[in-house]
Amino acid sequence: MTARIKTDIRFKPVGQFEETRFEKIHNVIFESSDDASIEVAEEIAALIKRKDAENKMCVLGLATGSSPIRVYEELVRMHQEEGLSFKNVVSFNLDEYLPMDKENTMSYHFFMHEHLFNHVDIPAENVHIPDGKISSDKVVSYCLSYEQKIKDYGGLDFQLLGIGRTGHIGFNEPGSHYNSGTRVITLDHITRVDAAPAFLGIDKVPRKAITMGISTVRNAKRIVLLGWGQNKAEIIKNTVEGKISSQVPATYLQNHENCTFVLDTGAGSELTRNKTPWLVKPCEWTNDLTAKAIVWLCNKTDKTILSLTDKDYNDNGMADLLSLKDSYDLNIWMFNRLQHTITGWPGGKPNAEDTNRPERALPARKRVIIFSPHPDDDVISMGGTFDRLIEQGHEVHVVYQTSGNIAVSDTDARKYAEISKRISPSEEAQTIIDTIKTKKESSFDSPEVRKLKGNIRRAESYAATRYLGLEDNKVHFLDLPFYETGTIKKNNLAEEDILLMIDIIKKIKPHQIFAAGDLADPHGTHRVCLDAVFAAMKRLKNETFFKDCWLWLYRGAWHEWEINEIEMAVPMSPDQVLKKRNAIFAHQSQKDGVMFQGDDSREFWMRAEERNRDTAKKYNALGLSDYAAMEAFVRHKFD
Ligand code: F6R
Repeated sequence: MTARIKTDIRFKPVGQFEETRFEKIHNVIFESSDDASIEVAEEIAALIKRKDAENKMCVLGLATGSSPIRVYEELVRMHQEEGLSFKNVVSFNLDEYLPMDKENTMSYHFFMHEHLFNHVDIPAENVHIPDGKISSDKVVSYCLSYEQKIKDYGGLDFQLLGIGRTGHIGFNEPGSHYNSGTRVITLDHITRVDAAPAFLGIDKVPRKAITMGISTVRNAKRIVLLGWGQNKAEIIKNTVEGKISSQVPATYLQNHENCTFVLDTGAGSELTRNKTPWLVKPCEWTNDLTAKAIVWLCNKTDKTILSLTDKDYNDNGMADLLSLKDSYDLNIWMFNRLQHTITGWPGGKPNAEDTNRPERALPARKRVIIFSPHPDDDVISMGGTFDRLIEQGHEVHVVYQTSGNIAVSDTDARKYAEISKRISPSEEAQTIIDTIKTKKESSFDSPEVRKLKGNIRRAESYAATRYLGLEDNKVHFLDLPFYETGTIKKNNLAEEDILLMIDIIKKIKPHQIFAAGDLADPHGTHRVCLDAVFAAMKRLKNETFFKDCWLWLYRGAWHEWEINEIEMAVPMSPDQVLKKRNAIFAHQSQKDGVMFQGDDSREFWMRAEERNRDTAKKYNALGLSDYAAMEAFVRHKFD
């Protein structure tokens, strides 16, 4: 295990933290959300103990959602292993959907018990979560009494928050008033879209909720807001650097005297001090930072790399860079750096001088593993490169890490069960049909239905890989157990998952591994699948094949690497773009009204094409050749 980075998250008043003229909220950025969560849990534990030593109750305001999960996990561990007691804790949860049964697995009541309350010694009567079943005639007085109860306990000592992409805290959506108290609120469309996967469809997400108000939250003596992943980067920037506005309710926290945002690098990536540090302070000009700055400068000035002038550098906060090298040298260096990332030979070009190529020439025929978190990420994210690797004679293996069964609709599953029954009537097929017919909303799939759904995705995967010319014996399905919960919420990565990964890597002994390098959501499947790759590789580092094995990361369906980060860009001709599209089409259950669409209504093939076209356009705008499309990769180097 790597040592945990110890970072002090204690609030420091303006002037004492590394604030910039852009930032209006104290924030601390960690390499990983894991380390950050542990730090927050330690602060909460210290507060509970201090209050206990003073013979006082500790009043905690608690949040649900994916952000605090790891904090709760650590608090539970501290209770179980270190004897941290919650006897003196009184808790008030921020919110609850309306209407919502306590027993419903989607309720915040269920969430809090599952993640925290069932595992610690907090007295049941000290737990307060808004009642999602309160009748409409009683709800106003209920909200007032919730607010009053917090006051009666002397107010919140500590409030834990997450942030929604709308800038909501609790469910205080855009438009919420500075002085608002606990009340009923109508959820924003974006909030409902974000919750849709968990509810298995947007129509099942409640439209209303009870939420503590902005004023309820603001009155807490200490506030810590958690933000993980790139998906939160934009709203974090707007909140920390923007003007206070009811349109971004979290900006109200700028007025709080003891509030810290605890972020990981993804969530903090849009802050000016990280995004464009040269606008903030003198920089240490590493190659990576120089590349980032030059790409930014080209975008800003709308110029190609080779036409940037001294004045462009000087006028845009890069005078100190210019004092190290003149613009001519900087431009040539950057142009070559980018030029060298482009290759039509993703497995290396045999018999070619390879000093400036992204991949080694030797061995000429490489063993390659393409890890695909779901059965379709391979073709969506690197279908063109996949195709070239096969055409160029490499021994390519595709390894699907999860079954992807949850993303197949009941309609599709029933259709296939009915076909199966028509071909050969069987009790199994009939049971599946009956189970689907009588399935209640938000109930889990039976193991048989899940198996059928997994098989549908397998069949589609074979259709795609066969279309690209791969033999069936090079296609592997791991069905990693962490994914097999039958719900959107997955288990943590476990030893059994890692062993399956080790096993396949050891069998193939690859020279190249391609894996999905998505860092966006720490609890998302792609992230867990990447952690599985890292964990397996770490254990294999003494194997002889390991030192010849390069790991290339592609990005999943949602993001692309920044141009300055790309280390291998594989161009595609218009024909290859079409071929990739057809391979994606083979995944029919993920076409037309896919279950987990998010707020982007484009189908996966459209997203992939637009993204690949966009990368090519960006290269071209910087002054490089004009390709139809490009797939992009970053090499991960092990220590
Ligand atoms: C949860 C809550 C919300 C969430 C926010 C972020 O009780 O009130 O404000 O904190 O929607 O959700 P996650 O953490 O799932 O990204």
